[in-house]
Amino acid sequence: MAEDYNRFFEESAAQRGARVQTMQLPGTDARYRLLLIGAGKIGREHIQVAQLLGRATVQGIFDTDRGSIEAALALFQEIGAEAPQVHSSLEAALADTSYDAILVCTPNYTHYDILQQAFKTGKPLFVEKPIATSLVDAARIVEQARDYAGFIQIGMQYRYKSQYTEAFRETKQRNALGAVKTISMSEYRPPFLDKVKQWNKFNEYSGGTLVEKCCHYFDLINLMAETRPRRVYASGGQAVNFLDFEYEGQASDIHDHAFVVVDYDNGIRGSFTLNMFCEELYEELIVAGEKGRLIAMEASSFKRDTASVGRIKVEVEGHADYEFRDVTYPGIVERSGHHGATFFEHEALVAQLEGRGVNSATPMQGLWAMIVASAAQHSIEEQSVVEIDDYLRQCELSWLTD
Ligand SMILES: NC(=O)c1ccc[n+]([C@@H]2O[C@H](COP(=O)([O-])OP(=O)(O)OC[C@H]3O[C@@H](n4cnc5c(N)ncnc54)[C@H](O)[C@@H]3O)[C@@H](O)[C@H]2O)c1
Repeated sequence: MAEDYNRFFEESAAQRGARVQTMQLPGTDARYRLLLIGAGKIGREHIQVAQLLGRATVQGIFDTDRGSIEAALALFQEIGAEAPQVHSSLEAALADTSYDAILVCTPNYTHYDILQQAFKTGKPLFVEKPIATSLVDAARIVEQARDYAGFIQIGMQYRYKSQYTEAFRETKQRNALGAVKTISMSEYRPPFLDKVKQWNKFNEYSGGTLVEKCCHYFDLINLMAETRPRRVYASGGQAVNFLDFEYEGQASDIHDHAFVVVDYDNGIRGSFTLNMFCEELYEELIVAGEKGRLIAMEASSFKRDTASVGRIKVEVEGHADYEFRDVTYPGIVERSGHHGATFFEHEALVAQLEGRGVNSATPMQGLWAMIVASAAQHSIEEQSVVEIDDYLRQCELSWLTD
């Protein structure tokens, strides 16, 4: 599962930040042509970040919503980018062989069907998380990915957040904590934002809150634990958000808070706390090992005028970062989307296009993040502990238990 986590440590957040300071931004060496399927909120972040990095540009878009296409075209104009070709159908977009890679940034429930079409192109694919809404679909995609000609990069860009890359360097490369024993993550944030047709307010379209939103965190916890999850217990529900929300006669049913406990095969214990009825965003990773504790945190606001901040501290005797150290990326990338994580995700995409290996999430890693999330949701429904192997057999995915 953690086959390529080592690449996390090649560069520190500070080195990455310093490299950005020496870069000419926006970059001007845009040799790769990208096709964007889904030009909504994250699709437009990809347009902007690709333009900023300047190594690839979005030159074609397809979206089923006129409003999203217009918003995207306005963005191209605003950032001084050449207007893209707007394709009239998915088939037409995929039939255009001039693109170097395809970005799938549509709602979760559409990923599986769109991928079935996109796989016919053999082109490198970037697919937003989660890879699907059900484990069965996600596992099928993983099977298909095995024989696929191009690479497939999953949009788990939290891996590139500064404080988490530092946490991985400390724990894995420098072994600062000794053997890791517990990993706990938490996210406190405001409610889900508006989306086109409000797909994220419904389990059916998003896969559920823990799958949709929190697969990022389970991916990081899985990587930190370096082994498979054995059992999951979770408690959660819908306490405050969207209680009276309806869209086209359907009542919202998504969770807005949860506590999740994960036991890993190697004895490491993980936990995740979610709360989505807060004013501001606060994320925290606390890793404890034989020698001490590491805290990596991020605070930011959904209100525009407040800068985000990432910090790390390592409470191990004599450690240089015993007190909090600021690891925030330079403002230009920090503001470009998800605290600079999307920018470095694009660097990884370009690196893969150039044939270099990167530490972005593979379909299999995307699936394992979903397995924990999905088991947690199942645990909430059943109010019981979920043994992962049993759960996978129940989902007719026994091949994953080997
Ligand atoms: N990596 C991250 O941090 C991150 C952040 C936000 C969203 N996402 C993911 O990105 C995806 C999109 O989320 P969003 O926030 O941009 O949602 P959104 O609703 O803002 O945008 C989705 C866009 O896809 C379009 N669309 C829907 N069905 C389509 C289809 N069949 N073909 C083409 N276009 C279609 C919609 O019209 C809309 O414009 C989701 O999978 C979401 O989980 C990831």
